[in-house]
Amino acid sequence: MMTSKEIRKSFLDFFQSKGHKIVPSAPMVVKDDPTLMFTNAGMNQFKNIILGNDPIVYSRVADSQKCLRVSGKHNDLEEVGHDTYHHTMFEMLGNWSFGDYFKAEAIGWAWEYLTEVLKLDKDRLYVTVFEGAEAEGLSRDDEAASIWEKYIAKDRIINGNKHDNFWEMGDTGPCGPCSEIHIDLRCDEERAKVNGRDLVNKDNPQVIEIWNNVFMQYNRMADGHLEPLPKKVIDTGMGFERLCVAVQGKHSNYDTDVFQPLLKAVGSICGCEYGKDAKTDVAMRVVADHIRTIAFAITDGQLPSNAKAGYVIRRILRRAVRYGYTFLGRKEAFMYKLIPALIANMGEAYPELIAQQELITKVIKEEEDSFLRTLETGIRLLDKVMADAKKAGKTEISGVDAFTLYDTFGFPLDLTQLILKENALGVDIEGFNAEMQKQKDRARNAAAVETGDWVVLAEGETEFVGYDVTSAETSILRYRKVSQKGKDQYQVVLSVTPFYAEMGGQVGDTGVLESANEKIEVIDTKKENNLPVHIIKKLPENPASKFTAKVDTERRAAIEANHSATHLLQEALRNLLGTHVEQRGSFVSPQVLRFDFSHFEKLTPEQIRTVERAVAVVLTLKLQAA
Ligand code: SER
Repeated sequence: MMTSKEIRKSFLDFFQSKGHKIVPSAPMVVKDDPTLMFTNAGMNQFKNIILGNDPIVYSRVADSQKCLRVSGKHNDLEEVGHDTYHHTMFEMLGNWSFGDYFKAEAIGWAWEYLTEVLKLDKDRLYVTVFEGAEAEGLSRDDEAASIWEKYIAKDRIINGNKHDNFWEMGDTGPCGPCSEIHIDLRCDEERAKVNGRDLVNKDNPQVIEIWNNVFMQYNRMADGHLEPLPKKVIDTGMGFERLCVAVQGKHSNYDTDVFQPLLKAVGSICGCEYGKDAKTDVAMRVVADHIRTIAFAITDGQLPSNAKAGYVIRRILRRAVRYGYTFLGRKEAFMYKLIPALIANMGEAYPELIAQQELITKVIKEEEDSFLRTLETGIRLLDKVMADAKKAGKTEISGVDAFTLYDTFGFPLDLTQLILKENALGVDIEGFNAEMQKQKDRARNAAAVETGDWVVLAEGETEFVGYDVTSAETSILRYRKVSQKGKDQYQVVLSVTPFYAEMGGQVGDTGVLESANEKIEVIDTKKENNLPVHIIKKLPENPASKFTAKVDTERRAAIEANHSATHLLQEALRNLLGTHVEQRGSFVSPQVLRFDFSHFEKLTPEQIRTVERAVAVVLTLKLQAA
């Protein structure tokens, strides 16, 4: 039987033999795309190439990409553990063609790999093709269907609707019809009873999609219409864990050698065995799944924290600790002890795990310890709420209290209910759901952005002159309206710009656009798909006139000074603490700088003073020299 390591390698070897460049997985944490927090599909790292913003370096590429589906459009978190096929982190095997081969080769190679290399049973395979969508003017993908007919019986080629067979990255962006490959893993007896064909895309855990071949040819615009991409693209994605189930003839992802070593490690640390008790099994799956996500997120530069992506990671870790606490009896930190098993299993394919073992271990242990303290505080609060409810003769606690425990102390409803049940109390579920809905509405309103299509005044690319000058003659190439929370702003792309865009945590330049009779304030500069876009509050009366773009130079100088200070800070930290210190993020503005770095424990006040003194000394020397 092929091991998971052999399967991963065989995929990459196969596509290398077909002229593909094997590239590493992109980090799972996305830093430079405002529309994404985490990588949720293999194609994310190629988005700019697909849109034609970046040059094509290799026209054929393959990889195994670490993906995370815990926020935004794809969010599977609450399912994980309760079923056996959703994961927070998973690996996606993919091959790409950027303007090179198209449907015939993509389909032929997919078939060859599955049936000749992995030797999957052809009798268990089904494929789907896009049935078309009249409203969009899209016809059935007859081309893909007739290519498939060379390999598979006609009655195994199934038409699929727009939901299943037209892949879109998001509300806007690259998209196209797709053709999926499904496998029927049921036993012969079951297969004789019901034709597998009738179970494709019907949520049967034994009849599953393993590979999606997307024929990217359009860019979905903000108003919903489709424009052709500059070049046709193949984007395929195969769920690695599911593929292992199929190749190894197992019933679930957790039965494969991707998860078994981790489940064994959980068992030996927690004194339990997988497969003996349904509730324990859920908790063991949660822990085995989440430790992968947390460890990979930390190696990719996302430490648990209180904001944005860091908060998502913190919540995942807390979810695992909590399941361990309630169902596996773990009152002390234990997750960090799983790292050696994870590394033994995945370190070869992802050496970054080995390189950062010490950091991952220490960060996880610290997080666990601090959350266990919060958990104790939450339990004390719940004790008080329960005592008050009983005193008042109530049989349940309020939804607001249950929500506070959930939101502030990381107690999900089922944990609260469990403790309440032991005390013969219930909870006002409707009240809890109402609070949850309010929070979701708040988040949605804060995040909803409406982006208009670009109005193009002139074709061309921006020339960046900001290294040499802070003022330049320019004109507007294109602009568009962006509305959020009832406020309208405009994004403007210029022919020439001296403005630095926000990048790597450094805020963008501000300044003005001046024409003969107008002065428009530029309130920020950001990068989108590699384009510097200038944010203005109102459009010039005549957008087609000539402008002088002027950077606020005093503010720029203050930003530059703080930028230099981050370098000094990094050097001082490395000198004091060691070369393992790496930058994990930073924020540089005219007023302040923040520098995130990897180290496994809190600095002592004495260490902080030493670093401050070191930076101050170098700064003084530099100022004297200047
Ligand atoms: N982009 C497609 C997916 O994520 C194929 O890679 O399924």
